[in-house]
Amino acid sequence: MLLPVLNVDKAASDQGQYTKTIYNFLESIGINVSLFSLIILLLIAFLFKGAFVFLQKTLASYIRFSLIKDIRIDFCNKYKGMKYSYYTNTSIGYLNNIITTEIGRGVGALNRYTVVIGSLIFILIYITFAVIINYKMTFMVLFLSLLLFTLMRSLSRLSKKISLLVSETNAQVQSLLIQTIYNYKYIKATDSFTHIFKQLFAKINKNYIYQFKSVVLTSIPSSIIEPISVLFISGLVLYYVGFQGKTIAEIFVLVIFFYKAFSYIFRFQSDWQKFNASLGGLEVMSKASRILNNNVEKVGKRQIIAFNKAIELRNVNFSYGSKQVFFDVNLAIQKNKSIGIVGDSGAGKTTLFDIITGLLTPQSGKIFIDGIDCSKLELSSLRNIIGYVTQEPVIFNDTIANNISFWECKSQEGPCKKMIKDAAILANCDRFINEAEMGYETIIGDKGI
Ligand SMILES: Nc1ncnc2c1ncn2[C@@H]1O[C@H](COP(=O)(O)OP(=O)(O)OP(=O)(O)O)[C@@H](O)[C@H]1O
Ligand SMILES: [Mg+2]
Repeated sequence: MLLPVLNVDKAASDQGQYTKTIYNFLESIGINVSLFSLIILLLIAFLFKGAFVFLQKTLASYIRFSLIKDIRIDFCNKYKGMKYSYYTNTSIGYLNNIITTEIGRGVGALNRYTVVIGSLIFILIYITFAVIINYKMTFMVLFLSLLLFTLMRSLSRLSKKISLLVSETNAQVQSLLIQTIYNYKYIKATDSFTHIFKQLFAKINKNYIYQFKSVVLTSIPSSIIEPISVLFISGLVLYYVGFQGKTIAEIFVLVIFFYKAFSYIFRFQSDWQKFNASLGGLEVMSKASRILNNNVEKVGKRQIIAFNKAIELRNVNFSYGSKQVFFDVNLAIQKNKSIGIVGDSGAGKTTLFDIITGLLTPQSGKIFIDGIDCSKLELSSLRNIIGYVTQEPVIFNDTIANNISFWECKSQEGPCKKMIKDAAILANCDRFINEAEMGYETIIGDKGI
């Protein structure tokens, strides 16, 4: 845009094709070409550019963050629907890392991709103007850029590889960290931090090395943009001034333009490299999505609202891989009967409950609830009528009332509060809760302390 302003005082024969085109355009729309009108035009153009940049950044952030939010929710739903057997074979850190870190990195990669496309558009605009100004020079710039791009390809590939290693070590760090925090009491009581931290710190260190390498690799193209551009421009000046005998003033505008054009073209390489460096997150995300889609729990359509008669197991055989745990088990549990399942450790007690709750599916045989085949049931309706006290307490960092009602009660008073109290009386803990300073509104930590 500065070109026509700088050329305003020059003779028409000296103005160059680009300046002439702008002047002709201004005259065709009835604007008199003068320094004042050109500066006003320049100001308007840059005001528009500023507004456009603001809109573009706001819109890009809106798309980015709403995409992160939607993908996070989508993954939470995928976790809800995945097979229990897939969950038991998958690291907690891996599942956690996808939602906390990789989705952000993955969307970052998409963001980078739009930057790459944006750079391409800028390059196209610059090339178009460059051809008008000096086509020979343009081809030279393009040739040099292609050469550099080819040289940098192996860097891009390395960035992509390291990006995957960053994702992998992110998951490993999170896995160990979650387990350390979860088992904190035991680790503290037995002073086992040294052993666990040796592992954890080794993973943190690996992660740090990969992250650092990744940044170093992306810094290479961005940091050599200027030196190479200056080298190119110096060559240009030498050619015109040294060989063709032109003055610096004559080629000044040309030099500035090609310097900018060359920087843009080369910045594309840097953006491409950054895109590759964030590809790990995108790959982890899409791979996890594919695997989760292949591991969706199969559920029937029939709803069950209440339990009326009996739970029955008929000729049930169950194996974990090659290890058979149930051999042709037949069992009927009638409503309102209290049954104790006794057996050695590893006999299969927990497996039995996992089969009844539909977490595990036997290889053969059937389970009936009130005479309905479990495989025909919509499993969440069955699980809704199951009360389950596990060995590990399931307590959330919230009030006792919310822990009992699972956030179902909107008001402190009324029938809902009575239901919570009735449940506590039935479980024999109403008196104990009332002894707490805030009663049912007492906050209990996520470890129930
Ligand atoms: N996810 C799994 N993968 C492979 N084998 C498993 C898995 N879960 C349990 N097992 C094996 O299946 C057998 C039955 O395990 P289960 O947990 O049902 O026993 P249990 O009777 O509940 O034992 P405990 O009294 O120790 O709780 C055990 O030998 C156990 O090692
Ligand atoms: Mg058990």
